[in-house]
This record gives sequence, C-alpha cells and structure tokens, in this order.
Amino acid sequence: MKIVLGADHGGYLLKDYIREQLEAAGHEVTDLGVNDSTSVDYPDQAAKVCEAYLSGDYTCGLLFCGTGIGISIAANKIKGIRAAHVADAFSARMAREHNNANIICLGGRTLGTELAWSIVEAYLSAEFVGDRHQRRIDKITALEEQKE
Ligand code: RB5
Repeated sequence: MKIVLGADHGGYLLKDYIREQLEAAGHEVTDLGVNDSTSVDYPDQAAKVCEAYLSGDYTCGLLFCGTGIGISIAANKIKGIRAAHVADAFSARMAREHNNANIICLGGRTLGTELAWSIVEAYLSAEFVGDRHQRRIDKITALEEQKE
C-alpha cells in the first residue's frame, strides 16, 4: 500500500517506529515529518497529510501527536477526511470496516510501540464492509455539506 505519515513533536518518535515497520512489511511510505522534537502545531501536520491523501496518491494516512486527539480533531475539519483516533486493535479494525476511516490517529505519548503496530496492522488488513455502513457514511458526508 502507499501510505502517507505525519506527526507533531509529541508523535514523531512513534511515527518513525511505525514507518520502519511499514517499510519492513513492504509498504511504500511517504513521511511528511516532523523528524525532531522542535515544537510545532498539530493542525499544520494534519493539513499536510490530509491534503496529500486527498490528492488520490495514497491508500490511507497515519497521523501522530501526543495523544492522537488534537490531530484527529484537526483532520476531521477537512472535507473528505474521516479520521479515527484509535488506541486498540479492535477499534482500528472497526474504523475501516464500519467507518471507512481514511486516516487513523495515534498517540505517541500514550501507546507502546508494539501496541501501536498491532493497531496499524489491524487497520491496514481490514476492509470496508459497505451496505448499511455506506448509508451512515453518506449521512456524515451530508453533514459535511451542510457546513458550507
Ligand atoms: C503537544 O504538546 C500536544 O498537545 C499534542 O501533541 C497533542 O497531544 C494534542 O492533542
């Protein structure tokens, strides 16, 4: 899969670990940073990754901040993005199967590396099941249209 990654200073260490795991598993990864602990604003990182995803070049995007919360809130403000903040593998699978999340968000200060990798694997190996879930996603999209 082609996967785009991004993080703030609270998430970059976990992002780097996950990038290595993804590359070892044969995925094609684009890392939009950051790559050190200099303080940045997570909405900027969310915007970079979501815009890259919306270009159509990627299967999905992964975002990392300290908790995964702020960066998911920011990502969900962008039209066409369904970002799921996930902290367990079951939720990660559901985020794809039921919610067709195109971005998942993880906390670099809240998750251990092995748990985080199991979450990413669960998300990447799941498939959207459609049917009634598509109807619900269409309603989410309709809510998004109302904002304009
Ligand atoms: C940055 O200190 C921190 O607030 C950020 O990484 C994230 O946890 C926000 O939700």
